[in-house]
Amino acid sequence: MRVVILEDSVVASRWAANFIAEQIRRKPTSVLGLATGGTPVRCYDQLIQFHKNDQLDFSQIQTFNLDEYLGLPPEDSNSYRRFMQENFFDHVNVVPARTHVPDGMAKDIDSHCQEYERRIKESGGIDLQLLGIGSDGHIAFNEPGSSLASRTRLKSLAMETVQDNARFFGSEEKVPRLAITMGVGTIMESRQCLLLATGANKATAVREAIEGPVTAKVTASALQMHPATIAVLDEAAAAELE
Ligand code: F6R
Repeated sequence: MRVVILEDSVVASRWAANFIAEQIRRKPTSVLGLATGGTPVRCYDQLIQFHKNDQLDFSQIQTFNLDEYLGLPPEDSNSYRRFMQENFFDHVNVVPARTHVPDGMAKDIDSHCQEYERRIKESGGIDLQLLGIGSDGHIAFNEPGSSLASRTRLKSLAMETVQDNARFFGSEEKVPRLAITMGVGTIMESRQCLLLATGANKATAVREAIEGPVTAKVTASALQMHPATIAVLDEAAAAELE
């Protein structure tokens, strides 16, 4: 795994956005895997600036998001679909029908998950997957104990994740306990992964993911086995690396 350490989250986010922009310029029909949460917001801001100032063209890309909370309709202020619209899609020229986020209201969850996998395959596969990392070492919502071969499925959130994400919902009680998430196996099939981690609260998870053993207890550690992963860290998130 290539590790890039930069001074702060602003510079790290800009680096990640530049990397994504390069991918799109090189292959305008790129299939991007996208993440939500606090970490990628600055990166999306920067991509929006590239679109507005430098004509970065998103018109041919396809996107697949990592996850969505179960039971939240797309218009819910906390749904990941809404997050993507507000923080990215609404501000660039991506074609709405080419953006995919799991449906938190799907009636038949198993067949929805299979269909999501099928669509990823049909798109030709993910060229570049943007990832964050949970304080418990998860990627997407693959919580500790998730199989490293897992596919898109329903997953219960670990208590640590519920607590971490309560900041978006106002209270712990309001955080959904279940989510539809790409599996570790799904993520590992991406041609490239870009793990972005910023802030001191990620330092332990980052160390375990990059320098610890490959283990289902820290699903991000599976990325050590991925042939083309770059971890972009700010100094705070990199503080515990040897
Ligand atoms: C979000 C996702 C999660 C987050 C992780 C970090 O789509 O898949 O794995 O990347 O929980 O979240 P933040 O960035 O809010 O610290």
